[in-house]
Order: sequence, then structure tokens, then C-alpha cells
Amino acid sequence: MTVTASPTSRAAEILSRPVTLNGLTVPNRIVMAPMTRMFSPGGVPGENVRSYYARRAAAGVGLIVTEGTYVGHESAGQSNRVPRFHGEEQLAGWAKVAEDVHAAGGKIVPQLWHIGMVRNQGEPPYADAPAVGPSGIRVDGTEGTGKAMTRGDLDDVIGAFAEAAAAAERIGFDGVELHGAHGYLIDQFLWAGTNRRTDAYGGDPVARTKFAAEIVAAVRESVSPEFPVIFRYSQWKQEAYDARLAETPEELEAILTPLAAAGVDVFHASTRRYWLPEFEGSDLNLAGWTKKLTGRPTITVGSVGLDGDFLRAFTGEGAELGSLDNLLDRLERDEFDLVAVGRALLQDPQWAAKVLEGRIDELNPYDGTALKTLS
Ligand SMILES: Cc1cc2nc3c(=O)[nH]c(=O)nc-3n(C[C@H](O)[C@H](O)[C@H](O)COP(=O)(O)O)c2cc1C
Repeated sequence: MTVTASPTSRAAEILSRPVTLNGLTVPNRIVMAPMTRMFSPGGVPGENVRSYYARRAAAGVGLIVTEGTYVGHESAGQSNRVPRFHGEEQLAGWAKVAEDVHAAGGKIVPQLWHIGMVRNQGEPPYADAPAVGPSGIRVDGTEGTGKAMTRGDLDDVIGAFAEAAAAAERIGFDGVELHGAHGYLIDQFLWAGTNRRTDAYGGDPVARTKFAAEIVAAVRESVSPEFPVIFRYSQWKQEAYDARLAETPEELEAILTPLAAAGVDVFHASTRRYWLPEFEGSDLNLAGWTKKLTGRPTITVGSVGLDGDFLRAFTGEGAELGSLDNLLDRLERDEFDLVAVGRALLQDPQWAAKVLEGRIDELNPYDGTALKTLS
């Protein structure tokens, strides 16, 4: 562990290093995690959404991953207030978001999303559209409320992701993130609990990864070679926190290798607490294992800055779990490359600037109120 005279300068030194992700240079290591906010009536991000993101870019966030935004498939979502990444008005709104973030000195990628079997038929934006998934099974195991996807459905969804990615590049975004985490459509294929297919898209981990890999390949094909493609995945599911895609590093490697081969530039390994070891016998977290197994740059995430322990580095108490020092140690060892911050950055738009400048005593402690507004 490197001990510097001033913890403030250590944070600045380690977090302020630029990093290159395919053709994109991100000015520092701080990423805004994707967070659904539901402030986009008609699926159109407006002025309030623009300033929400631009405020964080101006205050030092290196890379913004937007809230999940629906791809152009009628079953992709279930809200009229979640922004869509298709349609003239919606994309015009998004183009202005990217423009404002760039003007504030930041980089931004949309998180492209299809919720699959999480959808309840009857909900907007397309009330008649059924819930679709690998086997028509919900994450909680319920059957009979959705449709097992046909070959035509698979092609439609793959095409929708590819079109959205092409649109992202066309309207000025810096890359795309594919939402393969938390029990939504792509993850429903990856996870044996929701994928009981007996065709080429179900079975062992490699077969369950085929759909995700085909989406990645189609996205890769639809954008310039240097345009970064980020893939977010998780072990946990929104409705099953203890679920796991991979019990061993070997199983994880079986899933990640085809994704990397299909063209993923960066993996975003979603965990709820970044300091927890993923497998026995090593203190690497999920992002650490992902980097070790694929050689690709990775983003870690999970409760950064939420714990009181985070501030201990600034009182000289060292690298406790969840502390800033622990995070910096791991970054310094190149366990992972970037750090995504979610709730702490909702609570305090100035979070990145304050951490980089050592104004820790000025951070607004998280209390959940920021979830209610787009402040
Ligand atoms: C309000 C809210 C909305 C979220 N929406 C998304 C989302 O759209 N896509 C996604 O991948 N994760 C989503 N997440 C998960 C976050 O990206 C992040 O992984 C999680 O909050 C843990 O990071 P944190 O502890 O820094 O908040 C959401 C989290 C919150 C709190």
C-alpha cells in the first residue's frame, strides 16, 4: 500500500488519472452509475434531465452512464416516464443531453435496456405488448405470464439494440452500455433460473451467453470500431439478491470469454458492496475477477461513499472495508480501472469534485431524499 503524506493528494493522484477505453479517453476514474429516475414524460428527456447530468459532469464525473433507456422493441419497458432510446423526439432530447454533458467537460454513454419478463402486460408505453423472455419465466419463478421468445423475437431484439447503438453514435454519445445485469432480459438468458431453453440459447453457461454475445456482435457491427461498448452484468437479480450466474471463476470465464470475443471493450461488474471477495481464496471482487479473466478494463460499483468508514482515510485510520483507502489500494493495484458511484452522487452532485479536492467534510451524507427529485 502506498502511504502518502496527504490522503487528499493520494485520492486526487489515483482518481484523476485518465483512462482509455477503446477510442475514448475518460479524464478520470469516476463514473456515474446508471440510475432509473423516471423524469422523462413520454420517454423524452427534457431540460431537467439535461441539467441533472450536466451538473455532475461539470463537477468532475469523468464518465456518465445514463439511466436505463428502452431500446426500440415494444416489450422493452413498462413506463412512460423512463426515457426511450428510439423515436425522433426522444433521440432529439438525448442529443441535447449529450451536448450539455460535453459542454460541461464530461463523457456520456446511454445504458440500453430491455426488461424482458419483468414487464407486466397492460402497462405503457405499449400496453398490448407481452412480457418476453427466454422461457416465459419470471425471476421469481412464476410461469404463464409471458412469452418464450421465438427466433423472430430474438432477431427483433438484437436488431433493436444494434439500432439504438448506431443512434447513440450518430447523435453524439461517447459509447454505449448494454444492460446485461440485475435480472432483466439479457440476464434472464444468462441465468439458469430463467433460461430453460433446449435450443442453442439454453443449457450450459456458454449456450446461455449466446444471445448476449449476438447482441454484442450486432452492436459492434453497427458502430465504428473505436466506439466503446460496455457490458454491465451482475450475479444478483433485482428480485433475487442471492442468485449467482457463476459459482466459480471457471464458470465466470465461460460466460465472459464469448462476450469479450464478440466485442465488449469494458465490463461493468455490478455488485452491492465493492469490497466483498467474489470467490473463496482471493480478495478480488467481481470486477477484479472480470479483469483477470478477460484482460479488459473494468468498472467496479457498490456502496462507494455510503458508509461512514469511507471517510476514515481522512482521519488516518487506514484501509478499513468500505473506506476510501481500500478503494484507492485496489485501484492502485489495477484490480479494476474505474469506480461507479450511484446513490452518493444522487445525494451530492458535487461528490466527485469534493472527493478529488479533499473537501470531504462538505459531502452531503446520504439519506435517500435525493431519490425523490432530479436535483
Ligand atoms: C434509484 C436507482 C435506480 C437504479 N437504476 C439502475 C438502472 O437503470 N440500471 C442499472 O444497471 N442499475 C441501476 N441501479 C443500480 C446502480 O447503478 C448501482 O449499481 C447501485 O445503486 C449500487 O451503487 P451505489 O451503492 O453507489 O448506489 C439503480 C440504483 C438506484 C439507487
